[in-house]
Formats: sequence, C-alpha cells, structure tokens
Amino acid sequence: MNFMEKIITTKDVHLYYGSKEALKGITLDFPDKGIHALIGPSGCGKSTYLRTLNRMNDMIENVKIEGEFKFKNQDIYDEKIDLVELRKKIGMVFQQPNPFPFSIYDNVTYGLRMAGIKDKRILDEKVETSLKQAAIWEEVKDNLNKNALALSGGQQQRICIARVLAVAPEVILLDEPTSALDPISTEKIEEMLLTLRDNYTCIMVTHNMQQASRISDTTSFFLSGNLVESNKTKKIFLNPDKEQTADYLSGKFG
Ligand SMILES: Nc1ncnc2c1ncn2[C@@H]1O[C@H](COP(=O)(O)OP(=O)(O)OP(=O)(O)O)[C@@H](O)[C@H]1O
Ligand SMILES: [Mg+2]
Repeated sequence: MNFMEKIITTKDVHLYYGSKEALKGITLDFPDKGIHALIGPSGCGKSTYLRTLNRMNDMIENVKIEGEFKFKNQDIYDEKIDLVELRKKIGMVFQQPNPFPFSIYDNVTYGLRMAGIKDKRILDEKVETSLKQAAIWEEVKDNLNKNALALSGGQQQRICIARVLAVAPEVILLDEPTSALDPISTEKIEEMLLTLRDNYTCIMVTHNMQQASRISDTTSFFLSGNLVESNKTKKIFLNPDKEQTADYLSGKFG
C-alpha cells in the first residue's frame, strides 16, 4: 500500500441540515487501497461525511454542502458528473443489508444489465468472480436463482457487497456493515474485507473499536461534526495525539 497516493481528498467540508451544522470543516484524505475506519460517538457525523463522498446526501431536502471533494483529482461535485458512473466507482454498502427482491444472480448482474451488458457468458463470469470475492460463492453457487431475501442477514450483506464489486468500483463505502449481524457473519465479512484491501479502497464507519483496530489501516476519529485526528490505526489506538481520542478509546464517553 502506498500511503503517499491519495484516492479521495476532502477539504474544509461543511454540511448543514437546514440550520444545523452537522459537519464543521472536515479536511481528510484517503490513501489509495486499504481499509480506512471512521469512528466516533453516535451523532458525530460519520454517516453524513461518508455519504458526501458519493453524493448520497444530495437527495435529502434542505442540505447545504460546502468544501472541496476530489476523487482522483476529479471534482465529485462537478455539475457535469454522471452520478450513476460516480456511484459505480464509489460504491456503497449500508448497515441493513438491502438486496433487491429478486434472485441472487439478478442482484449481482443488476448494474451490468443496466449498463446494457447482455452476453450471458460475461454475466455468468462476473457473478462467479464477484460472489467469490465476497466470500459467498460456495454457499450459493447451486442456488443462484434463489430470491436473495431468503438468505440470512450475513449472506444478504455479502450479496450486497458482490453487487457493488460486480461494477468494478475503486472505492467501497461501508456504513456499519456488520452492526446488524451476528459474530460469525461479522467475522466472515471482516476476513473478506481483508482480502479486498489490496485491490480496493474501503472506507468504513464502525462503532466496533475491536473491528477498527483488527482490520483497518488508518482510523479517523470524529466528534460533534469535527475531525479530532486521523492517522495509522496503530498510532490512534496505542498513542493518539489528542486527549479526546484517548478518552473516547478508553470508554470515558460515547
Ligand atoms: N436527514 C437528516 N436531517 C436532519 N438532521 C440529520 C439528518 N441526518 C443526520 N442528521 C443529524 O446530523 C448529525 C450527524 O448525524 P450522522 O447520522 O451523520 O451521525 P453518525 O455519526 O453516523 O451517528 P450514528 O453513529 O448514530 O450512526 C446528527 O445530529 C443527526 O441527528
Ligand atoms: Mg451513522
């Protein structure tokens, strides 16, 4: 991993929901590849910030967003940008698994079919590679026509990750991807993320401090709409620069 190379950079980000300022000037960059954790107490703005990176806040009414957002030097908020293309490159996985109510196969091929790809050989191959990357191929390969909603929560979440992977993202945003799952499913997803980090940039909100320290390369600590500090995960957990970070990690608040 080359920490010098930044894939996403954000500068002086302010976000207002009506008159409420939810992000108060966040300047934060993400190195290319690896797993980057966003932590902090409930309501500090983690999800809000994450959603700014692929413009998922745009559809909320009364939102005002200021600052500079770049994905590989391209302005994410350029009015000429194609949002469908942007969200293929910067995909998103939510807390509650949200597969479409159709077959596993159709879930994974959805984005490709929307892009006009009809060749069954290509689709079949993408389904297999994406499900393998999402560590769920062995469990579903004989039942690809099964409705995705009939799977367990952990399996549904891995189908959602396969769906994101199928359209060849570079960045994957994950908002507490395991907090609705049992420990075994959580472990499977953590292991899978560790295999993805060499080829993708994963930016993950998590409430689970063990999870952040186990799998992330960098950690950013948010508090009340501010970024307190961001650094390599080891440094944040073993020897943070700010007292607020140390207090939060030792359970003094949050
Ligand atoms: N759609 C919205 N409209 C108005 N206020 C909102 C909206 N979404 C979030 N907020 C407010 O913005 C602040 C930041 O919320 P956000 O969801 O980003 O926090 P979070 O760090 O993700 O919290 P949690 O850990 O509970 O998920 C909170 O005060 C929240 O109430
Ligand atoms: Mg949140």
